[in-house]
Amino acid sequence: MNKFTFSYPTKVYFGQGSAEQAFEAELGKVGERVMLAYGGGSVKKNGIYDQMKEKLSLAGKKVVDFSGIMPNPTYAKVQEGAALVREHHVDFILAVGGGSVVDCCKVVSAQAVLEEDIWSMEYEKGIFPIAGIPVGAVVTASGTGAEMNAGAVITYEEKTWKGAILGTAPSFAVLDPAYTMSVPPMQVLSGAFDTLSHAMETYFGASDADNVSDDVALAIMRNTVVNMRRLLGDINDMQARSNLMWDSAMAENGILKCGRLTDFQAHQIEHQLGAYTDCNHGQGLAVIHPAYYRHILKDAPEKFARMAKVVFDQDTAEAGVDALENFIKECGLPTKMSQLHSTVEITPEVLRKVADTCNIIRCNPRELSRDEIYEILLECM
Ligand code: NZQ
Ligand code: ZN
Repeated sequence: MNKFTFSYPTKVYFGQGSAEQAFEAELGKVGERVMLAYGGGSVKKNGIYDQMKEKLSLAGKKVVDFSGIMPNPTYAKVQEGAALVREHHVDFILAVGGGSVVDCCKVVSAQAVLEEDIWSMEYEKGIFPIAGIPVGAVVTASGTGAEMNAGAVITYEEKTWKGAILGTAPSFAVLDPAYTMSVPPMQVLSGAFDTLSHAMETYFGASDADNVSDDVALAIMRNTVVNMRRLLGDINDMQARSNLMWDSAMAENGILKCGRLTDFQAHQIEHQLGAYTDCNHGQGLAVIHPAYYRHILKDAPEKFARMAKVVFDQDTAEAGVDALENFIKECGLPTKMSQLHSTVEITPEVLRKVADTCNIIRCNPRELSRDEIYEILLECM
């Protein structure tokens, strides 16, 4: 194990009806002006918005709405939210949605109390926020695990950049699988694939062979695949959704990262693909992973063989990657760029720009060159 510091910033309330318990315990700790933040309207259709509003007014809160947070939230939306917080002297932000809403609010929280532009502060000066308006998260679509960490992924449209900005970790999170029941099946599966990707990307970073974090990562991969298969049989299987909801949080709450490096190269490529195309995150990952893994298979043969056995019950590293690709197909997730919903036509020129602008991870299994990333992306066409 390498040296590490670990703490849980977020108190989790898990299970059906847990919002009640969370609000009872948590709302008394925050001021009366609450920003209720949500996405494009799913919470209004499924009744979660009304429930939240009722709970907040019963707790004596004055509510200001922050609506329309889009999938792949933009930097402009962050600035809009921060301005709203300042204008209404908001004491607490309740983020109700998937990873996009939660991420946007984490950065709104930090930006609202800063004099300077948060992107410039983090990327030009290397300074990270130490304060923010408290945030609570009510997760309505799982997969990213965004509710249990301080990192957010934001699209800065003017810079054609999508990447991490450190904000405020939620002080509490409500994980009620019942809230996910209205999520469209394809989003349920792409969210779960994102979880699988997080566990795989952490596992493939450098670690000692007997590192416990690897064993936990493999267990999460296996459990994610088992429960995704359960959902293929019955998309409304509440227990499977509940298992996946906790897999999602476990994969990104930092526990898998203890004492080891991580890889996350597929994520870095996908984020820039998202910057150019606005594609769905989990679906972009599904397209990239098999091609990327075939490129690095020989750089971590034992790890690939172990994943093949534990997760897909295959005897060789190569068969494991084939099984991963077949599993993606079995889920109906895209395996080619042409299957992604994109705001632009995905041409070799677009992919060259993705390869030339994505972050390169300088650790194991192997550092890729930009030309090799371009090659990988072309193989996904
Ligand atoms: O906007 P609404 O109308 O709410 O609809 C959303 C959205 O269209 C819908 N949805 C959410 N809950 C629903 C629902 N529809 C019906 N019923 C419900 N209960 O689902 C769609 C997708 O939502 P979104 O939040 O975008 O999905 P996800 O949770 O996959 O989040 C993706 C974002 O998280 C980032 C991604 O890059 C992407 O921007 N990530 C954040 C990470 C983190 N902070 O740790 C890690 C990840 O690797 C990832 O990069
Ligand atoms: Zn992800």
